[in-house]
Amino acid sequence: MTTTNINLSDPEVQRCPFGAYKALRDEAPVHRMPNTGMYVVSRYEDICDIVRDPDRFSMAVPMDFLFKTDAAKQYYRDHGYPRRTPLSSDPPYHTEFRDLLEPFFTAGRIRQWEPRLRELIGNLADKLETDKPVDFVADFCFPLPMSVMTVLLGLPLEDHKILKHWTDVWVLPFSHGLTPEQEMYVAEEGIKLQRYLLDAFERKRREPADDLLTVLVQTRRADGSPLTTHEMLGFAEQAVVGANETTQNGLAMAMKELIENPGVEDRLHAEPGKIRTFVEECLRLQSPTAGMYRVTTQDVELHGVTIPKGCIVHLRFAAGNRDERHFPNPDKLDLDRRNAASHLAFSQAIHHCLGAPLARLEINLAFEILLSRRQHFRFARGAESFEYVPGLALRQLKYLWIQSDPAAAAARATAA
Ligand code: HEM
Repeated sequence: MTTTNINLSDPEVQRCPFGAYKALRDEAPVHRMPNTGMYVVSRYEDICDIVRDPDRFSMAVPMDFLFKTDAAKQYYRDHGYPRRTPLSSDPPYHTEFRDLLEPFFTAGRIRQWEPRLRELIGNLADKLETDKPVDFVADFCFPLPMSVMTVLLGLPLEDHKILKHWTDVWVLPFSHGLTPEQEMYVAEEGIKLQRYLLDAFERKRREPADDLLTVLVQTRRADGSPLTTHEMLGFAEQAVVGANETTQNGLAMAMKELIENPGVEDRLHAEPGKIRTFVEECLRLQSPTAGMYRVTTQDVELHGVTIPKGCIVHLRFAAGNRDERHFPNPDKLDLDRRNAASHLAFSQAIHHCLGAPLARLEINLAFEILLSRRQHFRFARGAESFEYVPGLALRQLKYLWIQSDPAAAAARATAA
């Protein structure tokens, strides 16, 4: 494959995209991806510059980009609200909206949920207490983020499975290439999610509680006006969706990295304080949100390529995160890397992930608890090959069969 025809949606490339990322960074840092018309930007510094320049690179990507058929868009209009996430906007609206919600997502505020998170993680870790192979994705990574978000929003815990289904469907348009029937299915399920959330808003108005949906219905702008129903819906959708696949895959890929890097697990047992850097390195190396989009508001020239006004720019965080211009020896999981946390897995600047403190806490606590209970994680015998969910924006393992090695653990304990 030459650089000019690199297609990041190609399942072959997705299996191991890192060679393609390097070729793009070195030879085509602004790459027009075949069959999509979008421009992929892959170098760390370029991505940082773009996310800091909302005047020329707008977050307000038109809905036409996600839905190609009018029928799906019309279905949203006829049966609920057009799909619009209020944070997917530019200043000054973005600044005002984000400022209203940011206080509820700070690291300090999120820490208050730690006891509840420990309980949820502990319950899931109990289910891994077996010497038989387990699918870490299905049994741990899948239920954890959704259970956490369900609790934070103030929804019944048992609803986490249906919410997971709706959010899985919600992100399908980011993969592109959906048939008209699939687009319609996305719209129908999207409206079911909206109706579910509208009911929940009503409940929270009647019975306020210490949860995020209550925050949404009680939030007031500087002039005293409440958020509109459309805004509340859009934000609640984004919070549920944002919390799901990304954290799920952050957890799964961290386990994969743990197993694939001999010596790392021993070091984490010896120095639990290094779990923090371990998590940052896994986020950097595997970037669960592999890329996101902007739209140009004017013609822009970058590295000799003119990106015309109105074009979609794909910011490939996953490629920037292995840019040797910023991270020396970028493919190495380095527990002593000094700038590990400067990665782009959560993006940067004004759209920096609002849920980053929550995601970090979840993944850190998960590994703290798992490592305190089990040792010598390894891939289950015969399960050393991996498959990824097709898609462009997210990188997602379909399954991860693992086992911990009781014999090796016992030998280690005896030696100690
Ligand atoms: C490992 C887990 C996660 C990853 C890798 C991740 C990644 C990202 C990235 C890359 C962006 C910025 C997109 C851009 O600049 O275009 C973003 C934004 C966002 N994320 Fe996350 N996310 C994660 C978890 C969460 C969680 C748990 C929530 C729950 C609240 C969340 C909610 C959001 C929201 C609301 C935004 C929009 C922020 C804005 O535009 O101002 N994310 N996330």
